[in-house]
Amino acid sequence: MKTRAAVLWDRQKDWSVEEIDLDPPKAGEVLVRMGGSGLCHSDEHVLTGDLPWPLPMIGGHEGAGVVEEVGPEVTGLAPGDRVVFSFLPVCGRCRACAVGMSNLCEFGMYLGEGTQISDHTARHHARGQDLGLMCLLGTFAERTVVSQANCIKMDDDLPLDVACLLGCGVITGWGAVTYTGEARAGDTVVVVGVGGIGINAVQGAVATGAEHVVAVDPVEFKRQKALEFGATHAVATSEEATALLGELTHGRMAAVCVNTMGVGSGDQIGASLAMVGKRGRVVVTNLHQATETQVTMSALDLTLMEKQVRGSLFGSSNPRADIPRMLELHRSGKLKLEELRTNRYSLDDVNAGYDDMRNGRSLRGVISF
Ligand SMILES: NC(=O)c1ccc[n+]([C@@H]2O[C@H](COP(=O)([O-])OP(=O)(O)OC[C@H]3O[C@@H](n4cnc5c(N)ncnc54)[C@H](O)[C@@H]3O)[C@@H](O)[C@H]2O)c1
Ligand SMILES: [Zn+2]
Ligand SMILES: [Zn+2]
Repeated sequence: MKTRAAVLWDRQKDWSVEEIDLDPPKAGEVLVRMGGSGLCHSDEHVLTGDLPWPLPMIGGHEGAGVVEEVGPEVTGLAPGDRVVFSFLPVCGRCRACAVGMSNLCEFGMYLGEGTQISDHTARHHARGQDLGLMCLLGTFAERTVVSQANCIKMDDDLPLDVACLLGCGVITGWGAVTYTGEARAGDTVVVVGVGGIGINAVQGAVATGAEHVVAVDPVEFKRQKALEFGATHAVATSEEATALLGELTHGRMAAVCVNTMGVGSGDQIGASLAMVGKRGRVVVTNLHQATETQVTMSALDLTLMEKQVRGSLFGSSNPRADIPRMLELHRSGKLKLEELRTNRYSLDDVNAGYDDMRNGRSLRGVISF
């Protein structure tokens, strides 16, 4: 069938919204009509080349939609089902899945390939070429074909262009604080960068019962949003945050610092390490350029204060358990979702949406289909 999608043909160029050819789903795959797709910074990393995944690629990995057709061997999904996509596929059988680290499922090895997990071929084509899919999803499209391993069935009490945020930003930020960072009630938490991920790190810290939640962002609008979402303090720089944390904690500093600014930097790891205290955790959620290998930090602090630097993928969560958990928290009024979506766009306006993200004019932009 024909459908429309936003395709990246070259680095540093705009997304091209065009008609593409879409094959029917094969074994283990489903055809989904998209309802909403969030504009996450990770797609921007593909555009800039920080994340050097192969092109051409259909962007988008934070999506929700309605199943229209199922291929052979699909279980538990039928046409008409509403699904949110986990941006990481989960097999449920590998060793990582079995021990409760399904964010690190072995299917993850195919993420950079962009073709279908089932047979490593493409269902999406344009201009006589196969198209890859961001995180095997390609949610910047009216219709897409994805593996059932990415699909989490959901009830129908939430609009799809809000539910899509559960597919990446919400649990990535929330889990970075609660799971990777292991924050506990009474801790002080600092979040560096208040975008779609950072604002959910703020929400996770608030729900955990943190004493102080300090948000850091150079953009005034983001600091305002952080306070609306429950941060106790919002400052423009890590230097200001370091001084503030010293005062607030009588020098004990934060238990957890989550790095979620758009592009990570080696220097920020050291700045963040200085913001945590004894056995404090720096959680590196943001992506650094693939070529960056240098980090500046006090290695002596690692030893003498048992400080720790931890990577975090999808908030160290288990998508099949935690996406429904986030929905339940929202239903009980303990998690804001509608408020995350500050800007809405049509598929044709995807480039304008990214412009707003780059210029700090959106907390999370969403394409509504
Ligand atoms: N690990 C994962 O599983 C995972 C998942 C999704 C996204 N990410 C990554 O997380 C990062 C954040 O994504 P996002 O969608 O929230 O991005 P975003 O662009 O929406 O937000 C980034 C925020 O960082 C702020 N910022 C920039 N420089 C700063 C600095 N020096 N100090 C403090 N704040 C600063 C910006 O003003 C902006 O508000 C990206 O690198 C993205 O690729 C990681
Ligand atoms: Zn994302
Ligand atoms: Zn697995």
